[in-house]
Amino acid sequence: MDIQVVDHPLAKARLSTMRDARTDSAAFRAALQELTLMLLYEATRESEVAEYPLHTPVAKTTGSRLAAPPLLVPVLRAGLGMADQAHRLIPESQMGFVGLARDEQTLQPTPYMESLPAELSGQAVFVLDPMLATGGSMAHTIKLLAERGATDVTAICTVAAPEGLELLAESGLPVRVITASVDERLNESGFIVPGLGDAGDREYGTV
Ligand code: PRP
Repeated sequence: MDIQVVDHPLAKARLSTMRDARTDSAAFRAALQELTLMLLYEATRESEVAEYPLHTPVAKTTGSRLAAPPLLVPVLRAGLGMADQAHRLIPESQMGFVGLARDEQTLQPTPYMESLPAELSGQAVFVLDPMLATGGSMAHTIKLLAERGATDVTAICTVAAPEGLELLAESGLPVRVITASVDERLNESGFIVPGLGDAGDREYGTV
């Protein structure tokens, strides 16, 4: 499985803001949005482009745009904080949604929402979730996508635990991972260490 760590100094600075327990909700969301831009920038680096003719005020030249915009799939709740920024960067993308809540005892994801196109063959998909912990939520989401024919899935996560990466690698699911950090481990409660706490709670408050 391809794992790319975006360790640009500006990405590290935004991730540090997110990690800091003193960062309030508004600043956390702002840092997440900025980091999302950087992760998407790397995620699309090898994307195919389509060229088209255009006129500048001075001369004719060739323009270029993404040949096939990816489907964006934020995993609710926490992934919602990445969705608008990703859509601003790739406005022609469609967006699907998957709602999952991780059971705090079993750490298993409980699905509560699913809004995805029925057919995804040949369609690149970017799944947006700030955290890859046990990997259960991401694996569940990618299975939903694979059932619809997706074979080109990119998981975009601000932090990832080695345990979650291992689960994805062993699952054989068609995925590559773009993250700003592979952290040390999960603790006994299933939190990423050092991590950033619970991204959904930090973005939107505890429910
Ligand atoms: C968090 C996080 C991921 C998931 C990661 O969401 O945003 O979706 O847990 O854990 P995993 O890799 O062990 O599955 P949570 O279920 O807390 O829901 P929320 O986004 O609504 O806060």
